[in-house]
Amino acid sequence: MPKAVKLPKGGIRPRDAVLKMAPYSPPTAGRADKLRLDFNENTVGCSPRVVEFLRRSLDAAHLAVYPEYGEAKAAVAEFFRVQPESFVFTNGTDEAIQVFLNTYVDDGDEVLLLRPAYAMYRFYAEVAGAAIREMDYLRPTLDFPLNELLRAITPATRAVLIANPNNPTGTGVSLEAIERILKRARRAVVFIDEAYYEFSGVTALPLIEHCPNLFVSRTFSKVYGMAAMRLGCLFSHPANVAYLHKAQSPYSVNSLAVLAAQEAIRDTAYIHNYVAEVLAARELLIVGLDQLGIRHFPSAANFVLLDAGSRAIEIRDALRARGILVRDRSYEIPGCVRVTVGTRQQTRRLIEALKEVW
Ligand SMILES: Cc1ncc(COP(=O)(O)O)c(C=O)c1O
Repeated sequence: MPKAVKLPKGGIRPRDAVLKMAPYSPPTAGRADKLRLDFNENTVGCSPRVVEFLRRSLDAAHLAVYPEYGEAKAAVAEFFRVQPESFVFTNGTDEAIQVFLNTYVDDGDEVLLLRPAYAMYRFYAEVAGAAIREMDYLRPTLDFPLNELLRAITPATRAVLIANPNNPTGTGVSLEAIERILKRARRAVVFIDEAYYEFSGVTALPLIEHCPNLFVSRTFSKVYGMAAMRLGCLFSHPANVAYLHKAQSPYSVNSLAVLAAQEAIRDTAYIHNYVAEVLAARELLIVGLDQLGIRHFPSAANFVLLDAGSRAIEIRDALRARGILVRDRSYEIPGCVRVTVGTRQQTRRLIEALKEVW
């Protein structure tokens, strides 16, 4: 238990799983007016059409009623080329992870995770009281540890969670490798988090019909620029989705989020243009890093992991002093700092700042 938390006299002890959890508190305050290259968000915001659509659609009556998802579900299903029965809307990917674990993982069940990975897998697995086993991304490349993971999967494995591409490494895993994992883990449920799919182009989504142990998540938080809305989708075989529904609160996704999503998926040009801009900016960043002699890891996403040696925190703070936020990851990969890739203009500003501080 963190030292600061002291129960009042007669206070009730929480569950052991919660007592044992490491606290997770990402730095979310004081980000306004800065160049925010710290959370892999869309750095220019969502499509203006989404904002306009929300303005036009909202009225007092709309806000007074509990959400209805039918219309949005049909539109989003068509967009992703699946049946409406093949997914649930979730309150961001975070709720997708939570609902997935709530549906399948009992106290003490073995959950396999990669390390480092998106922190919320471990977070919700710990809340569930799971027995967590972690496989390290390969050093020094931070490639996906396929053979190690395949070896680690046993009949005792209940769930496997993988981000593709992974955060914070930026490295991905091929579809062939995912198929091998699904086969090897046929007695377990496998969650593939595709939060950065639009930048990598690799997806396991079409496999949900044939692989009964596969779950795929997507989010509107990243390329769609709607992180504040908290909207994700969790896809699987309709039989699995029926159970996910059972384990989920009926109104966890708010009306504004699904309204916004309907316009977001109509403005496909906005997304295509933003992805093209980020991919061009990522090239620019890599050239800039190479010129500065800054070691970095290959990325299939809208962020790049840099190796700052012993100066990770110092570099983060020096960039912050210049109005640019980046994320220290040295606590999980020694020396590393993660920078989000936005537009080319923003990237030029980052490179100029790096020239000063490196
Ligand atoms: C791999 C990965 N999955 C999910 C998320 C969060 O997604 P959401 O905002 O949909 O909860 C992040 C955010 O950083 C992420 O890196």
